[in-house]
Amino acid sequence: MTDQRLPVPAGFAADARLNADALAAANVLADQDPELFWTRVATRLEWWRFPTQIKDVSYQLEDFHIRWYADGVLNASVNCLDRHLSTRGDKTALIWERDDPNLPAEHLSYRALHEQVCRAANALRALGVQKGDRVTIYLPMIPEAVVAMLACARIGAIHSVVFGGFSPESLIGRIHDCQSKLIITADEGLRGGKKVPLKANVDIALKARECSTVETVLVVRHTGSPVAMQVPRDRDWRELLAMQAPVAAAEPMNAEDPLFILYTSGSTGKPKGVLHTTGGYLTYAAFTHEAVFDLREDDIYWCTADVGWVTGHSYIVYGPLANGATSVLFEGVPTYPDASRCWQVIDRHQVTIFYTAPTAIRALMREGEAPVKSCSRQSLRLLGSVGEPINPEAWLWYHRVVGDERCPVVDTWWQTETGGILISPLPGATELKPGSATRPLPGIRAALVDSEGRELEGATSGNLILKDSWPGQMRTVYGDHARFIETYFKTYPGSYFTGDGARRDEDGYYWITGRVDDVINVSGHRIGTAEVESAIIEHQAVAESAVVGYPHDIKGQGIYAYVTLKAGLEANDALKQEINATVRRVIGAIAAPDVIQWAPGLPKTRSGKIMRRILRKIAADELDALGDVSTLADPAVVQSLVDGRKR
Ligand code: WTA
Repeated sequence: MTDQRLPVPAGFAADARLNADALAAANVLADQDPELFWTRVATRLEWWRFPTQIKDVSYQLEDFHIRWYADGVLNASVNCLDRHLSTRGDKTALIWERDDPNLPAEHLSYRALHEQVCRAANALRALGVQKGDRVTIYLPMIPEAVVAMLACARIGAIHSVVFGGFSPESLIGRIHDCQSKLIITADEGLRGGKKVPLKANVDIALKARECSTVETVLVVRHTGSPVAMQVPRDRDWRELLAMQAPVAAAEPMNAEDPLFILYTSGSTGKPKGVLHTTGGYLTYAAFTHEAVFDLREDDIYWCTADVGWVTGHSYIVYGPLANGATSVLFEGVPTYPDASRCWQVIDRHQVTIFYTAPTAIRALMREGEAPVKSCSRQSLRLLGSVGEPINPEAWLWYHRVVGDERCPVVDTWWQTETGGILISPLPGATELKPGSATRPLPGIRAALVDSEGRELEGATSGNLILKDSWPGQMRTVYGDHARFIETYFKTYPGSYFTGDGARRDEDGYYWITGRVDDVINVSGHRIGTAEVESAIIEHQAVAESAVVGYPHDIKGQGIYAYVTLKAGLEANDALKQEINATVRRVIGAIAAPDVIQWAPGLPKTRSGKIMRRILRKIAADELDALGDVSTLADPAVVQSLVDGRKR
């Protein structure tokens, strides 16, 4: 912890989008007349029918519903493209920075992007994709990923973007769950010089009978490596687009019509299909993108996330494009070809706003100041952080070394479920404290509760809830509304439970401490312990396993797996490697355990429940703080795990 405070830089306050007075006024309005506040926010979009019904929400289980702007009509792709053509047609929408720094970057204007999206929309329509159909997008960070998303939005198809690092098995689950009709992929991805066999992964996935709904696969030629094309199922994206008209009518969408599904891990079961709708989501993404990043017409904005995650959806695609911003789309990774890549890209494109994850900051911090100082970074004016708690040390390094103490750092807390940022400083209005996401944005009613659901006042710690809805909130778990209600609204009746814990200080600032459920946050990626456990169990030698998170210097949290082998099998390193490979095959490399510890048994209560609290302590090497183990069925198990840890 640090009690350092950083005032708003004078230059920032002077012409901020929202200065302290404007923020205070927004807070008052949002408190006293939320309908008027959210009506005004919605005017930033172009509606074909402006909503008269603003908020219609009940978290009461007997009458549960969440609707925003329910009688509004609009189209997200029109808001991201057509709307800008008259004023910003030649403005650069996307700067595509390729994996290989020696290749030139590509600039796509709003006009060029609009044309591509129209062609793609026509292609999808020609292939029989209709409003409400699901389309799976499994692409690397190339402009076609943005084009594909917006083309779906244009015709009212619901996209489901699957991160390119996920395995064929994960892809099967996500295609099957939403019954996709069409998949958009590339021959290969390219990350840090390494090729990712996307099309081959799709081919494997589509052999599964769970994927029989898929009629067409569109393949973007990216690396140009030869891939098997199965006729007539597989079609060449570019050939198909070239045949289409460069304009396409946009589907009128009701505000509550679905825009996309994005799968995310929870504490139990398979990943959930988080469903976002059109009007509220787009309003909220655009509003927060402008407010939190203090967006100006001439900014060059760069968010390093992948479009496979929600940060890419809201703060690479929908927010920035709805705001007419120029945004960098980066194909590579921060450490390739070396640790100065980000700073070189910033100089090359004169980036003014840089938004990344603490894990990247910590990894680059480890390389020292020289790679940063070798670049100018004079264009930068604002820095952002997202995805996991940022430790004050990393925050201060980011501020001092990367931002030369000139650029405010906005630590933005939010979730796939929330659609956009909920707790964050506003750079022209909020005094900063390193490591704190500071305060909720206007209209966001955050609170802390104890385990019984009693609201806690003042400076305290507790579980973070949201007492009321906001337009960007998810509407359901695709195909499983009961699970949606069960997961988020039953723990603390009448409120949305985030799954996070937080501390609130005497100034009302929030310090997010991390997940309080069985979700681990590895390098800013959410991974459910149950998912990893069921992947490990797929290895034939494994009898049982329990997975927990443990503190990791770079990744924030690492994955620690306790594995019990079937009787009579010998534990050895080769087997560890095989188990690791099994997880990579079933989920993807991001879920591979950092540590596997052989466990002769797991600590269980007499009713058979695994005591994860103890396993977390052992993994964290807090061996003196194991607490009461007397309720265990076999307390001796703990000692053997402690001994195993020491070895
Ligand atoms: C964590 C990513 C601390 C948190 C946008 C949350 C954070 C989960 C922050 C959501 C932050 C995200 N400080 N923790 N600024 N931002 N988190 O769905 O635990 O991938 O619940 O959304 O990341 O992860 P998700």
